[in-house]
Amino acid sequence: MRDLVVAMTGASGAIYAVRLLEVLLASGRNVHLTISPSAKLVVSKELDLELNLEQFEISQLLPPDSKLSAESAVRLLRPGAEGVAADNSSVLSEITPGKVTYHHYSDFRAGIASGSFLTAGMVICPCSMGTLASIAGGHSENLIHRAADVHLKERRKLIVVPRETPLGSIQLENMKRLTDSGAVVLPAMPGFYHNPRSIRDLVDFVVGRILDQLDIEHALFRRWGT
Ligand SMILES: Cc1cc2nc3c(=O)[nH]c(=O)nc-3n(C[C@H](O)[C@H](O)[C@H](O)COP(=O)(O)O)c2cc1C
Repeated sequence: MRDLVVAMTGASGAIYAVRLLEVLLASGRNVHLTISPSAKLVVSKELDLELNLEQFEISQLLPPDSKLSAESAVRLLRPGAEGVAADNSSVLSEITPGKVTYHHYSDFRAGIASGSFLTAGMVICPCSMGTLASIAGGHSENLIHRAADVHLKERRKLIVVPRETPLGSIQLENMKRLTDSGAVVLPAMPGFYHNPRSIRDLVDFVVGRILDQLDIEHALFRRWGT
């Protein structure tokens, strides 16, 4: 199983990225993570967490105890498994949690800056309008833009998760440009047909749709028709 690339940029919705990372790691996927300076500001504002981008540790973003990850893994592997948390040890023993390799946003020496470094795809979550415009314009000004560029040119999966409303014509044109280049534009727009009861349910809807694009099985929300 190849590694995945996850980039966090400075759009609102840092909670989506945290949940995505939690679920990917709990499902055993290795992740190359990079974070823009604006994402650091948003994380501070929205999640009250202080990231050190020069000396980043995943514990700055995800709680060091594995309680949430374990719960994610159970829900991920077993549809409707929320009720089995008490006896989940056999499920959890089947999973080796994934690892995070962090890359500074300005480190163009990182493997993910090159097409010869094979990955299973890249997710930019949340994706700011600025990063979206840079990718659409082909400006590789930081590692996030460059890695996205590489995924497009190598015809690999690139999923961008914008969070902006309303949208202007330049933003819509940039999204069209990315879609035409092979990217998946997956706005952070939760559905309501799964009868969400909490913010977690809304977040899981969006994260689940990202996992669908990555062909990762999950049970983060109840699908229509099931
Ligand atoms: C708290 C906060 C929330 C923001 N929310 C958004 C947003 O939802 N969408 C967006 O495109 N930009 C948003 N911005 C502005 C971007 O962070 C800004 O355009 C930045 O230059 C993006 O840089 P980056 O793409 O390198 O992360 C927000 C900024 C802050 C501080």
